[in-house]
Amino acid sequence: MPDVNLSVTLAGMTMKNPVVVASGTFGFGREYSQFFDLSELGGICAKGLTLLPREGNPAPRIAETPMGILNSVGLQNPGVDAFITEELPFLRQYDTKVIANISGNTPEEYGIMCEKLAGAGVDMIEVNISCPNVKAGGLAYGTRPELAAEVTHVAKAHAGQVPVMVKLSPNVTDITEIARAVEGAGADAISLINTIRGMRIDVNTRRPILKMNTGGLSGPAVLPVAVRMVWEVAQAVKVPILGMGGVSRGEDAAQLMLAGASAVAVGTALFADPYTPLKVRDGLAVLAAGQGLAAVRELTGKVLPW
Ligand SMILES: Cc1cc2nc3c(=O)[nH]c(=O)nc-3n(C[C@H](O)[C@H](O)[C@H](O)COP(=O)(O)O)c2cc1C
Repeated sequence: MPDVNLSVTLAGMTMKNPVVVASGTFGFGREYSQFFDLSELGGICAKGLTLLPREGNPAPRIAETPMGILNSVGLQNPGVDAFITEELPFLRQYDTKVIANISGNTPEEYGIMCEKLAGAGVDMIEVNISCPNVKAGGLAYGTRPELAAEVTHVAKAHAGQVPVMVKLSPNVTDITEIARAVEGAGADAISLINTIRGMRIDVNTRRPILKMNTGGLSGPAVLPVAVRMVWEVAQAVKVPILGMGGVSRGEDAAQLMLAGASAVAVGTALFADPYTPLKVRDGLAVLAAGQGLAAVRELTGKVLPW
């Protein structure tokens, strides 16, 4: 590998490289630990947690699309307490940053989860206000600036010293409005994008493919949307950005970084190739070295718009 410094810092959290795995696409890491040493990752965003266990939505809840997938998993998870006792000790065996991802039905639920997770010792809390697949909470908070700010404020008040990153939805008219609102409420970092609402229909049965009718689109198809939104948010706020949406190669990660991201997450691409995060990291290193950079972090925000 070329001699390039890969380390990046996100809201005071230093990672050995800028590649994180995206929430909901890596479970709690157990399955992927059969493929490679999880210590090679910059960080792990764990599967989205709720206060109580959730079974998720009825199947079918995944459908393929051109260059992507639609999902309506609906936050299936064992609940925050089971994560702390059963999954966190496993993740802690590895030399990588652990980011817990939370969704609540009320601002109070976000607060309770933050308190539990801060006490348990995660490195960062990612506050999901952007899940398109649940009726309560989630997207309702992510599309209204005043609600997004309220959830952020409550999360910060209960997270102690643990940095709070708020995950934004692309399903809005102006994403900078929400970004400014959460920054104003104290967010330490912002992550984006979550999935884009979509729908597929079986023309013979005339039924939607997903049992929930609609779902969230992710994968390579959404990369240009993610790059555009990271670029817009980077100009609107000062807090650091974790960029994601369609990353499957080093060059994709470099686009998000040039647009303004300090680090990147890999999600859907993991389903086709579990080694994608390592390939993205190595691809970034080769690209940065080829451009004569000493460190990959020098890419952040360096796009030259016309
Ligand atoms: C099957 C699946 C489950 C997901 N679950 C969550 C989740 O629990 N919490 C969350 O914040 N985002 C969740 N996401 C969104 C991803 O973390 C990511 O923001 C999105 O998929 C875009 O990145 P990608 O194109 O690399 O997958 C999920 C995505 C997929 C495909």
